[in-house]
Amino acid sequence: MIDKAVKALKDGDIVLIFDFDDREGETDFAVRADAVTPEIIARMRNDAGGLICTAIEGRIAEKLGLPFAGDALSGTNLVEKIGDIPYDSANHSSFSLFLNHRDTFTGITDNDRTLTANKLAEHVKKAANGGSPTFAEEFRTPGHMATLRANERLLDQRRGQTELSIALANIAGITPCITICEMLDDKSGRALTKEDAKKYAEEHNLIFIEGSEIVEYWNRTKNN
Ligand code: 5RP
Ligand code: ZN
Ligand code: CA
Repeated sequence: MIDKAVKALKDGDIVLIFDFDDREGETDFAVRADAVTPEIIARMRNDAGGLICTAIEGRIAEKLGLPFAGDALSGTNLVEKIGDIPYDSANHSSFSLFLNHRDTFTGITDNDRTLTANKLAEHVKKAANGGSPTFAEEFRTPGHMATLRANERLLDQRRGQTELSIALANIAGITPCITICEMLDDKSGRALTKEDAKKYAEEHNLIFIEGSEIVEYWNRTKNN
């Protein structure tokens, strides 16, 4: 399945990534940010229903000036501490800033969120190749696209869809900037079950992959 997931991600298809039974137990849509279209954003909000976010590799986020939200908000006493997240006692959330590209209008429409995702990918690619001095000139916060900053040690330290999707992008050799959205269940209001997410994948001819499979590949190949 890892090969199929890597190919699908590379091809710009939606890949369904389940994390772990003992973590969130959620499945996210994941698509390379440079392949996001208004149709994909519409499908994320209609079929997935969670929060649309764009995950960025840690070192590149740092280079672009994107802090962890917890660091940016450290002046308030509301900021989460390690141990606050019920399903992960060793890490904080991967949230960075909520952004809009400056050419958006409200920032929330399918076209606007597509523009923000596509432009983020453009800047991540530029930064990966040596720098992106115009980042702050092109984006503003607060905005309507949540950005997520992957842990620099990726799956060796944190195993959220943030790291799972960026690890998969690195394996695929594509720009490490991936737009993701949790799948929720319209009936129960809870996370869509793994079985239902698999069923959705089968019905829509999409690849479903579990975090355990990505971690297994990661551990097997990381020293090569
Ligand atoms: C942002 C989230 C999602 O769960 C998303 O999958 C990223 O978080 P994580 O890396 O912790 O899984 O909370 O909507
Ligand atoms: Zn979550
Ligand atoms: Ca998640």
